[in-house]
Amino acid sequence: MKGLILSGGKGTRLRPFTYTQAKQLIPVANKPVLVRAIETIREADITEIGIVVGDTHAEIEKALGNGNQWGVNITYIPQPSPDGLAHAVKISHDFLGDERFVMYLGDNVIQGGIGSLIRDFAESDWNSQIVLKEVENAQSYGVAKLRPDGSIEKLIEKPKVPPSNLALVGIYMFDPHIWEAVNAIKPSPRGEYEITDAIQWMIDAGYQVYPHVHKGWWVDTGKAPDMLEANSLVLEELKPNISPESVIENSQIDRRVTVERGARIINSVVRGPTIIGENTVIENSYVGPFTSIYHHVTIQNCEIERSIILENSAIRDLHRRLQDSLIGRDVTIQHSDEKPQALKMNLGDHSTVWIL
Ligand code: G1P
Repeated sequence: MKGLILSGGKGTRLRPFTYTQAKQLIPVANKPVLVRAIETIREADITEIGIVVGDTHAEIEKALGNGNQWGVNITYIPQPSPDGLAHAVKISHDFLGDERFVMYLGDNVIQGGIGSLIRDFAESDWNSQIVLKEVENAQSYGVAKLRPDGSIEKLIEKPKVPPSNLALVGIYMFDPHIWEAVNAIKPSPRGEYEITDAIQWMIDAGYQVYPHVHKGWWVDTGKAPDMLEANSLVLEELKPNISPESVIENSQIDRRVTVERGARIINSVVRGPTIIGENTVIENSYVGPFTSIYHHVTIQNCEIERSIILENSAIRDLHRRLQDSLIGRDVTIQHSDEKPQALKMNLGDHSTVWIL
């Protein structure tokens, strides 16, 4: 079995971060979402992985290389235009050949344990397996209507009036009959070749598509609040670890805290679940639950809760607690006593600041 990860897309809903970074490379709990996808596929003993890339291909290739670091072998498949998920499958035919494969949307984050589901499919004779999850806003996703016996009656992409609350999670498994389907379907009203339509085609043609209803959590990380949500959920699952190569002085560290190599925590309180990245310095500060602070960050005289701070940023002397915030790379946030006392900002396009 092979793996196919879709990692194209411009990530417009995650601007300004996506001006300089592929959205799939934004870390949750200090690990890029895309690396989490690779690890889940690897858990199912799949080592041949194709990654479909678009405009952000250079950043993705730089971050992942040939995949050796994660024990996999990566082949990059360029998608010339974002023509839909079924189109991404179509252009990956040479890589996938006639093997069964799992397709994973590179911006999805899912609670662990899905590796065994993929392995089950590898050994089954189903033509396809899809993953469903009960959600509140089903109209934002592909939606499945099941029959009383649990089989799929219908799949509809982003229906205005959803026939159920079962959304299609971005993890799909196929056998070679998918090739007939992706070649048969026509573009949807939004002009894309939808994978939902391809699976519906397989059902209509009498192929066996097995729906698995996932009970754990699942986040499709399209917007900043989704990143914070995924970060909190992943941090809760993280096995805490304090690196022996970190320095902790005169500080209170909760038992659900991970401190990476080279980090220094001085005169501070850190409550878990939280992760403090490599070579980051936390001084005279409080870092509260559900916070991921990435590498080479400086936090001095601040309180921070439920936030993600990316590498090389510095936050100093804030008089108010920073909360529910996603802070990019090389950002400086700092209190100033200079007169006149006014707000001063250098913000890039599509930034958002809340002032209370
Ligand atoms: C895609 C699929 C949709 C699925 C979703 C999961 O939507 O088309 O069926 O529910 O991923 O993340 P998109 O993110 O392209 O809007």
